Parts: sequence; structure tokens; C-alpha cells
Amino acid sequence: MKSAAPASAREVVRSLLDGRSSRAPADGARAFAPSNVALCKYWGKRNAELNLPENGSLSISLGALGTQTRLAPAPSLMRHRVTLDGVVLAPESSFHRRVTAFVDLVAPEGSAPLDIETENTVPTAGGVASSASGFAALTLALDALYGYGLPARDLSILARMGSGSACRSLHRGFVLWHAGEQPDGLDSFSEPLQDQLPSLRLGLCTVGAGPKAVGSREGMMRTASTSALYRAWPEQAARDLHALRCAVTDGDFASLGRLSEQNALSMHATMIGAWPPLLYWQPASVALMQRVWALRDEGLPLYFTMDAGPHLKLLFEARDRDAVLTAFPEAQLIHPWEGPLPSANPL
Ligand code: PMV
Repeated sequence: MKSAAPASAREVVRSLLDGRSSRAPADGARAFAPSNVALCKYWGKRNAELNLPENGSLSISLGALGTQTRLAPAPSLMRHRVTLDGVVLAPESSFHRRVTAFVDLVAPEGSAPLDIETENTVPTAGGVASSASGFAALTLALDALYGYGLPARDLSILARMGSGSACRSLHRGFVLWHAGEQPDGLDSFSEPLQDQLPSLRLGLCTVGAGPKAVGSREGMMRTASTSALYRAWPEQAARDLHALRCAVTDGDFASLGRLSEQNALSMHATMIGAWPPLLYWQPASVALMQRVWALRDEGLPLYFTMDAGPHLKLLFEARDRDAVLTAFPEAQLIHPWEGPLPSANPL
């Protein structure tokens, strides 16, 4: 495929799988992918079908929090069956539709329906990003099931088409997602960065348990089309991305924390300026932010980031673990480099 030509998702997949889709499927496949949180956020698409971002982003993986997915061909089923955390999903549910559309995009033509079992160790109901690890694990499992053997870069391009942030869940540690420029998105992929801040720890503070009011796809579209503040976003994101990469390379935690917090709050400012406004925060989210700022004023090097939801992810260094957990007894401690590596095995 000519890289400069605009393309449909199907054309992109066809070009990635060219010559690879002829092997008989395995009896099944199992995969794990960790969840991730962006320190420089992806917010806005330049192509909604391919999930091509307006800006590059940078994330850290969430250790053992992630998704385990098991696939098995099930010729006796009329259509794919999707089980999420032990519950069989209704075919009309949005997650079922997204998963089956992605499977149909990637599976060889005429393949048997799949029995898809997926389990999150991320609190799904709390709206903590699980689509990233979910589509990353699904991509890895499909690759193993059909024996494609795709290289990491191509896997990240596939995962991105399931959910943008999923391309960053194929690696552990710090991951960079290149925005790319090509209309077909073959240069919009993820890659791991050298881990220079092994002391980084996160604390997950969940606020409320309901699903998020407006999903990221709709939220991005609304922000880009109605918020005047969004015009400043791609430029700021590019600046933050560059500075964050330097902070990771230099092992400079204070810069990493400051840039991450400011990037998250700037993203939220663009959302608040949308119409109808998008305010993902709850009063408890603001109370948590104020607790972080008060502790920082007292000298504790503590920062936070937030996605399109009310939860906070605290950012700190291992040596401050006790002080942070004393101030935030509700926080779930996350060690980014613990837990299984992203991987898949045929069964
Ligand atoms: O990949 P999506 O569609 O779930 O969007 C992710 C959006 C944010 O979580 C807010 C930012 C990010 O980079 O993960």
C-alpha cells in the first residue's frame, strides 16, 4: 500500500497482514497486557476510523493492573461470544460491538466465531482505563491464535485501531506513541523508552464507582469541535512530550511530576471549555487534588495525573511511599515494573 494514500482500517490491516494470514488457527490463545496511564495525554483524533491522534503521547504501565484474554475458536457458536469478568455480554452492548468489530477486522476471512473471555485486574466499573489493556491483550491473543507473528510496531498499529491508548499497552514501563503524519497511520505506532526512573511509583485513588458519563471518543470530538481552548492543545502537547522525554532520559522525577500534572490539568481545561461542558471531576476529585497540593507545599514531592474520569493517579518516588500512603490510606499502590510482561501464548 502507498503510505501517502488515505486508507480504511480494512486496507491498513490487509497491508499489515499481507502474506501472513494463511496458517490454521491454534486451539486457543491467551494473552496479558498491562494498563497504562498517559503522562502526556492523547486528546483529539485526526482520523477517527484509524484512531490517529492529533498529538503524540507518553505513558507509564500500571504493573499487574491489566487484562488477561483467552480466545478459542468455537465453530458451534452462531457469532462471537464475549465474556467480561465472568459475565457474558449482550451482543448489543457497546463493548461487545467494539470487540467483535475488531476481531472481524483482524481474523482471516471465513474464520470460525471466537469464544472471547476477558478479565480485568483494573477496576472496570470504576471507569479506570481498561480499554487500553483490553485491546492490547486482544491484539496479542489474535496474533498468537492465527500465528501471524507480527513485529511489535505492527502490533501497536493494530491495537491502536481497537482503542488509541491500547498501542501503549504492548510494552512495560515508559512508552512513547508517535503521532505520525501519514494518512494511513503506518507511522503512528508505539515504542518503549529506556527506563531511567525505576523509583517511580503510582497510587490509584478511585472516586465513585459509576461508568464515566461521556466516553473518550465522544469527549474528544466534542472538545475539538466546540472548545476554543483546544486550539492551544496540540502545541502544548508537543512541548510537554518533548520535555517529558527529556525528564525520563535524565531520570528527573520533579520535572516529570510537574509536566504530567500540568498536562493533565490543561487537557481537562480544554474539556471544561467544550459545549456542553465536560467536567469529569467529582467534589472528591478536587479534594484529592487539594490534599496533593497541601502536601507538596509542605515539601513532599508528590504529583498527580487524571484521565477522562474522576480518579487520580498519584505520582511519587519509592522513598516517599510511606508518607504518601499515610496521607492517602485509600490509594492502591502501583509498581509500574511489577506483574507479568505483555505476552501471548497459543494453547
Ligand atoms: O484510547 P482512548 O480512546 O481510551 O482515549 C484515552 C484518552 C485519555 O485516557 C484521556 C488520555 C490517554 O492518553 O490515555
